[in-house]
Amino acid sequence: MAYLAIARKWRPSRFEDLVGQSHVVQTLKNAIQFNRVSHAYLFSGSRGIGKTSVARIFAKALRCPNAVNAVPCNECTECLAISESRSVDVVEIDGASNNGVEAVRGIRDNVAYGASSGKYKIYIIDEVHMLSLSAFNALLKTLEEPPAHIVFIFATTEVQKIPLTILGRCQRFEFRRLTQLQVIERLKYILESEKMRIEEEGLRLIASYSDGSLRDALSLLDQVLSFYSGDKTGQLQLTEKQVVEALGVTDTNSAWLLINHLVDKNMKSALQQVNEVYRSGADLKGFAERVLEQLRLLYLSVVSIETKQAVSADELDISSGHFNRVQEAAQKTNVLQVERMSQIMGKTIQQLSWTSLPQFNLEMAVVRMCKLDDLAQIESGLKGEESEPKKAEPAVTAAIPAPVSVSAPVPVAKPAPMPVATPEPIQAQSFENSWKGFVDFVMKKRPLLGALLTHAQFRMEKETHYVLAFPEGSFYEKQSMDSKNYKDIGDALKAFFGKDTTFSLSNATHLAEKSLVQQQDDHIKALKKSALESEVVNEMKQVLGAEIVDVQVDLP
Ligand SMILES: Nc1ncnc2c1ncn2[C@@H]1O[C@H](COP(=O)(O)OP(=O)(O)O)[C@@H](O)[C@H]1O
Ligand SMILES: [Mg+2]
Ligand SMILES: [Zn+2]
Repeated sequence: MAYLAIARKWRPSRFEDLVGQSHVVQTLKNAIQFNRVSHAYLFSGSRGIGKTSVARIFAKALRCPNAVNAVPCNECTECLAISESRSVDVVEIDGASNNGVEAVRGIRDNVAYGASSGKYKIYIIDEVHMLSLSAFNALLKTLEEPPAHIVFIFATTEVQKIPLTILGRCQRFEFRRLTQLQVIERLKYILESEKMRIEEEGLRLIASYSDGSLRDALSLLDQVLSFYSGDKTGQLQLTEKQVVEALGVTDTNSAWLLINHLVDKNMKSALQQVNEVYRSGADLKGFAERVLEQLRLLYLSVVSIETKQAVSADELDISSGHFNRVQEAAQKTNVLQVERMSQIMGKTIQQLSWTSLPQFNLEMAVVRMCKLDDLAQIESGLKGEESEPKKAEPAVTAAIPAPVSVSAPVPVAKPAPMPVATPEPIQAQSFENSWKGFVDFVMKKRPLLGALLTHAQFRMEKETHYVLAFPEGSFYEKQSMDSKNYKDIGDALKAFFGKDTTFSLSNATHLAEKSLVQQQDDHIKALKKSALESEVVNEMKQVLGAEIVDVQVDLP
C-alpha cells in the first residue's frame, strides 16, 4: 500500500466531517443555500485547524453539479479534481512561494473570463499575509470590482499582517484551535476506521503535544504508527508507554507520580521519581513542562474547591479518569502551595534550557518544593508574634515575587531596649519630638502651612528662639518668605510653644537640624537597608530562589 500521510488521507471532504469550526460551517452553508455568496472570504487562525479543508469543501459545494443543500457529492469529476487540487476553476495559490506573487498578478488578467465550466471560479490563496505590497495592490483592484462569478478565499495564520483595505472587503471567519477532547475524539475515530487502537492516555499525550492543531496531532500519530508499523497495522494496539517511547516524550503519568509525592512532601520518593525519569532517557525539560502543565490543572481544581465553584472535566478539557486523579490531589493541597510549586517549576524550566546538569536543577527544585512548609513557618514568624524578641525586624513589606509574596505589611516587634541608636526620631522623646508635635498641630489646622514646615530644617536657640531654613532656591523657601506665611508661622509657634517664642529664617542650612521630610527619608533608607540584610528575607531567597524586586515601607 502506497504510504499516504494520515493527515492527507483524512482530510475532511464534507462539512460534516469537520471537527469543530461549526460557526464557520453554518454561515457558509447558509450562504450557499440562500444564494448569498460573498466575493471574498478570509479564514484566519493557527495552523492545522481546517482552513484549507473548509476552503476546498466550500469550493466543492459551490461547484459540484450534484450538490444538495450545500453537500457536494465528492464523486463527480469536479469534486475529485478539487480534492486533488487540480481543478482549472479552483486555483490554489501559495502566498508564501515566489510564484505566488506572480500568480496573483495573473489573476487580474484572467478574472475577466468566466469559469471554464460551472458558475463560479474560485481562488484559494493560502498564507495570504505573505504577499508583497504590489501583489496586495493587484488583489485590491480586483476586489474593488469583482466579476460576479469570482470567489476569493484567503487563508492566513497572521491576520494582523493583512492590509486593512483588503480586510475591509472580506467576510471574515476566525477558526478556533481544537480542544484536547476534540482532537482525541478525531484520533479515536480515525484509528477505529483503520482498525487500530491506542489507549486513551496515549491519545491524550498526542493531543496535548499538538496544542490544538489537528494536523500536528495527525503527524504525531503517523510518527507513532510508523515506529511500530510493519504490516500488522490491522490489529495494532498501543499503550501510553509505547506512545511515549515512539515520540521520545514524557508521559502524564510520571508527571503525576512526581506531583503526588510533592503534595505529600515526600522528598525521598520525589527525588527517586526524578531519577527514574532521568534514567529512562526522557528529556528532562519536556518532563518539567509536563509537570507544569499538570500543575495548572491542579491549580484550577484547588481554586474551584476553595471558592466552592465546581469545575468540570470538560472545562479543564480532560477525560473523567484524569479529572478524578487531579481532584484527588487537589483535596490534599492548597492554592498557595500549588502556586509556589508552579513558580518554582516555571523557573526551573528556564534554567533547564542552558544548564549543564539538568538533573541537578530539577532535584533542587524538588527539594525546594518539599520544603515549602518550612517557608510557611518562616512566614508566620514574619507575620509576627510581636512578643518574640528574636524576630525583631523592621516594619517592611518585602515585595518578593510570588510565590513568596508577603501579602500584608509585616509588623514586627519594635527594637528592644536600645534607646538612642534606633532610627526612629519620630517617636523619640527629644527636641525633634516637640518640633514634630508642632508640625502635626499646624497640619491639622492649616495643612498647606504644615506641609511647608515639614521641609524646614530647624535649630533651637536660647530655649525660645527657632531658626528655620528651607532648601536654598526652592519653592518652599519662597513660600516661607511670603509675608502672610511668615506671620502665620510666627503665630503658630507662639500658640504651640508659648507667647515668648520667636523665630527667624536662615540660609545656613548646614547648621540646621534635618527637616521632617529628610528625617523620614533617612528613616526609610535605614529600614530598607535592614530589610535587605534581614535573615528572614535571605532565608526566603535561599529556600525559594526568590528575588527582591522592591522593599516597601509601611509607615504608621
Ligand atoms: N477541523 C478539522 N477537522 C478535521 N480534520 C482537520 C481539521 N483541521 C485540520 N484537520 C486535519 O489536518 C489536516 C490539515 O488541515 P488544513 O485544513 O490544511 O489546516 P489549515 O489550513 O488550517 O492549516 C487536514 O488534512 C485534516 O486531516
Ligand atoms: Mg492550510
Ligand atoms: Zn460533486
